[in-house]
Amino acid sequence: MRIDVISVLPELMESPFQASILKRAVEKGLAEVHFHQLRNWSIGKHRQIDDEPYGGGAGMVMMIEPIDKCISELKAQREYDEIIYLTPDGETLTQKIANTLSLKKNLIFLCGHYKGIDQRVRELHITKEISIGDYVLTGGELAACVLADSIIRLLPGVLNDEQSALTDSFQDNLLAPPIYTRPSDYKGLKVPDVLLSGNLKNIEDWQYDEAVRITLEKRPDILN
Ligand code: ADE
Repeated sequence: MRIDVISVLPELMESPFQASILKRAVEKGLAEVHFHQLRNWSIGKHRQIDDEPYGGGAGMVMMIEPIDKCISELKAQREYDEIIYLTPDGETLTQKIANTLSLKKNLIFLCGHYKGIDQRVRELHITKEISIGDYVLTGGELAACVLADSIIRLLPGVLNDEQSALTDSFQDNLLAPPIYTRPSDYKGLKVPDVLLSGNLKNIEDWQYDEAVRITLEKRPDILN
């Protein structure tokens, strides 16, 4: 998979891909992440990328021309499955969306800043708009990192067996059951007996029942 990220602050997104699982995914060639500084497509001698909104109002608007030039240049090099704009008014990111996007080959993420982008960019290029939650960030960069992380960890070969994404919370519309490690008794706080029993069937039944119980308690809205 290849992800091209367009932003005025690409340096904000470098470190998540330079550590741990995402770093390994990139090193193994399972994911390619390319950052593009939008100012490289700026216009005029002032290297402009934003301007005041028509009709007035507070905040600057990212101009169509630099974004169009940048996206068009990328599109001329390869076919993209989705061109995603990270925005608080987009569809809220879910595990299902991450699963679907993890099957794609080439993606563009466009990070907004200031008040957002000229509406015509959405009409011209954007195929999907994603929000990472009902709150407003200073820009789309951190949201782009969250989206990339949720997708890349699902690519075959990125996680090892123990980290398998199949047992994640949300994968079966269930939250994950509680987990424990040694010691089995810490100051009287005991690990449930069934987990020490060695009986795989009983363990799996307990884990499923706990997953249902916890989902009902914390997130009844996601239960089928
Ligand atoms: N940009 C600003 N806030 C955002 C959010 N919640 N999700 C995605 N992009 C954003």
